[in-house]
Amino acid sequence: MTPSPTAPGSQLASRFGLSDRVFAGPLARRLAAKIEQGLEQVESELAVELKAADPLVDATSRYLYEAGGKRVRPMLVLLTAQLGSGANQRVVDAAKALELMHLGSLYHDDVMDGADRRRGVQAAHQVWGNSIAILTGDLLLSRASVIMSRNGDEAMRLQSETFERLVLGQMHETVGAQPGDDPIDFYIQVLADKTGSLIAAAAQAGAFFSDADEKYTEPLRVYGEKVGVAFQLADDVIDLSANPADTGKVPGTDLRAGVPTMPYLLLARREDEESRALLARIDEGVARIADGADPAILDAPLTELRDHDVTEATRELSLKWTRDAVDALDVLPRGTVREALTRFAESLAIRSS
Ligand code: IPE
Ligand code: IPE
Ligand code: MG
Ligand code: MG
Repeated sequence: MTPSPTAPGSQLASRFGLSDRVFAGPLARRLAAKIEQGLEQVESELAVELKAADPLVDATSRYLYEAGGKRVRPMLVLLTAQLGSGANQRVVDAAKALELMHLGSLYHDDVMDGADRRRGVQAAHQVWGNSIAILTGDLLLSRASVIMSRNGDEAMRLQSETFERLVLGQMHETVGAQPGDDPIDFYIQVLADKTGSLIAAAAQAGAFFSDADEKYTEPLRVYGEKVGVAFQLADDVIDLSANPADTGKVPGTDLRAGVPTMPYLLLARREDEESRALLARIDEGVARIADGADPAILDAPLTELRDHDVTEATRELSLKWTRDAVDALDVLPRGTVREALTRFAESLAIRSS
């Protein structure tokens, strides 16, 4: 369903991929308009933050920012700020800093994953090489710290602890499960660390910097972390099934590089002959790609994986994590904010990009 172009919040609704139904009713529309206004402030202030150095450096750091992105984390900060006094400057600063942390981590992630495309454009390292991509990521992460530090020790702690966890998640993913680790539990922990940590920080930050009731902090952290796991599980499905025109990424990038995702891990648990044969073909393709073969050799096996019921099982797991995330909101007052957080989680789990 396409939102009416004149409805307040329609821009937000389209960026979320949410339908009119989510913001149905005058109260929800008013909330959507407030979030949209906050997002506009975040965008215009970020544009200034990203013009801080010399023209070359500004060009590399604005590159992926201007290429697009859903701005999921700032939206969440702005949404939970509605549990307190709304989008004051500290809230807006947190939204900007967390989006910059996310952005910086994408520059690094694409180097590590050998990704070709991001947000519909060539990955930064494909344009300028690894060193510039890594340094640009560092710069964005430093700028995130500068912005966060304006709001004192608590803000700095939230930012640095979150980044530490994100890095540990990336590190554990890179090193892989160790003997004795359950591969699926290990993978879920990686998702909670590399993605859940930042989404949890966004959920907490809005409430914290808007002086909302402290009793919301922990449930929002739990909510954000579970939303992050659900988000990544949905990403695993999208990675196999999505249209690159929607995602702006090359499908199957991680699997082709030998990074297991949930459909692959579930496949590895299957004992039937067909599943075993598919697993063997994927493993063989990954080994050949590592030896220099064309990554397209995995096109057919990845299509089979997409059509295998393990991919549907991954989608269901994503929805289960979403339900658990929403359950964590029980302590929040009933109303438009809680409703929006519920829809927010649900829409991320069923998104297509
Ligand atoms: C991509 O995050 C990286 C992950 C943690 C999966 P998003 O899907 O939020 O990326 P953008 O910001 O919309 O590009
Ligand atoms: C990205 O994870 C997580 C971080 C940047 C911390 P992925 O590597 O799974 O995400 P995409 O698919 O490249 O966006
Ligand atoms: Mg990646
Ligand atoms: Mg990665």
